Amino acid sequence: MAIPIITIDGPSGTGKGTLAARLARLLGWHMLDSGALYRVVGYVARHRQVALDQADQLSDIARSLALEFRLACDSVQILVNDEDVTEKIRSEIAGSDASEVAAIPAVREALLVYQRECLRPPGLVADGRDMGTVVFTTAALKIFLTASPEVRAQRRYKQLKQKGIDVNLARLSEDIAARDRRDEQRTVSPLRPASDAIILDTTALNIASVEEAVKVLAQEHGWL
Ligand code: DC
Repeated sequence: MAIPIITIDGPSGTGKGTLAARLARLLGWHMLDSGALYRVVGYVARHRQVALDQADQLSDIARSLALEFRLACDSVQILVNDEDVTEKIRSEIAGSDASEVAAIPAVREALLVYQRECLRPPGLVADGRDMGTVVFTTAALKIFLTASPEVRAQRRYKQLKQKGIDVNLARLSEDIAARDRRDEQRTVSPLRPASDAIILDTTALNIASVEEAVKVLAQEHGWL
């Protein structure tokens, strides 16, 4: 029997990560936050002063990820020179760096193997940009979350404020738009829904309603 997979793709600020974590907990399945891998590559590159267009060096970093850093499929803890930088990859700059390195085919190729290794029984909830289109094309349930750019920027703004990080909403909106453009327009694995994905617009929905909608779909598959 194939191991069941739910893929959750979409642009930033749509609630993918929160939904994936809630579903994984509910189903008792593993979880893959694929964006964290691209963030680690970007973070380590910056730390080692590797320019973000150096494909060879960046793919070397990506290939050595599992060996060099403490990565588990359900969580990512990064130690650089014994310093725990797990929280630091969550910054806006790390998100933007991640989007840059994610446009490099050799980096994506190197991370592909690692992501597929996360598929283990009893099941996997994987979130990212290309989970349904490239990494787990045979997934039985593919969700693509969308939301208006304004609402996504507002959500991110609130998140950062709650963390005590001072940000400017207009600037944040511009950065998110630039990141979306890069993710959608890159030639390799661009952000787009799989042809068999269910598209959920979360603009007017809170996370509990989104979770409820996906729970119904999981029940239809007999997973709940
Ligand atoms: O989901 P996130 O914000 O942590 O992702 C950070 C960046 O990584 C995102 O802008 C694009 C890239 N990414 C990707 O290209 N493919 C994925 N499956 C996940 C993330």
